[in-house]
Amino acid sequence: MTDDWLNMKGKVVIVTGGSSGIGAEIVQSLSKNGAQVIIADISGSAYENVDFIQCDITNQLQVEEMMDKVVAKYTRIDGLINNAGVNRPKLLVDYYRGDKAHEFDEADFDFLFNVNVKGAFFCAQAAARVMIRQQCGVVVNISSEAGMEGSVGQSIYSATKGALNSFTLSWAKELGRFNIRVIGVAPGINEPTPMGNPEHVKALAYTRGIESGDVSVDYMKMIPLGRQGKLEEIADLVTYLLSDRSSYISGTILNITGGKSRG
Ligand SMILES: NC(=O)c1ccc[n+]([C@@H]2O[C@H](COP(=O)([O-])OP(=O)(O)OC[C@H]3O[C@@H](n4cnc5c(N)ncnc54)[C@H](O)[C@@H]3O)[C@@H](O)[C@H]2O)c1
Repeated sequence: MTDDWLNMKGKVVIVTGGSSGIGAEIVQSLSKNGAQVIIADISGSAYENVDFIQCDITNQLQVEEMMDKVVAKYTRIDGLINNAGVNRPKLLVDYYRGDKAHEFDEADFDFLFNVNVKGAFFCAQAAARVMIRQQCGVVVNISSEAGMEGSVGQSIYSATKGALNSFTLSWAKELGRFNIRVIGVAPGINEPTPMGNPEHVKALAYTRGIESGDVSVDYMKMIPLGRQGKLEEIADLVTYLLSDRSSYISGTILNITGGKSRG
């Protein structure tokens, strides 16, 4: 695929959570293809041609200031990737040992919904105001296959992604008249990112009754292509969706899971 085919040069794209994991890979891909990328993250730094703006997406004021800075510097926002997200595996009820430490509480609920849903809402609203003025733009919401299918040990996380999918469908209906596309991307099982740190994997294994702690054995049997996804493959899809090559794709959630559809 050549840079010219995607024609990303000059496009101004904000990637929330772009300092790590999938977001960092998306930043690389967009930048390599000529876009001007701005990372909006609670931590990280600028590099090469990539800008960094420190921003907690759960804070509406910080989100609006971040968008204002981008418009002041680049005059426009062509793309927003709502990628920042958090996960915390626990059960609704610990039916193994009745251990409250493995059961979701209100603080977990608020933490997960604040970042994954409210943060995405703040970012989309601020970006959409600019995109409506421009009469064009693309919003990509990074969801999860768990948001389509549910997932043991990740019920609140899955619910946040289900909510995000619903935003995708509604925002596409509201914003289409302004030539703004809104698309969801739902990854499945991928190369490890900091989100899947050892503590997270241990907690997830507990919820699934896997005493060895190795959740990956369980996964491989469920993926028709027989392997985990590469972060680069998600980044390639997102870059395509940001380009005019995907100009008739909106209001849908694309699974990128190697064929896995039940988890
Ligand atoms: N890793 C996977 O296998 C996987 C699978 C499906 C979906 N996803 C989704 O992909 C996205 C990225 O996941 P990842 O694995 O790269 O995670 P990650 O933990 O590696 O990166 C998340 C980034 O979000 C940032 N962030 C967290 N809270 C924030 C806040 N309040 N404000 C601003 N930035 C914040 C973090 O600082 C970090 O840089 C998430 O939305 C996640 O739900 C991941």
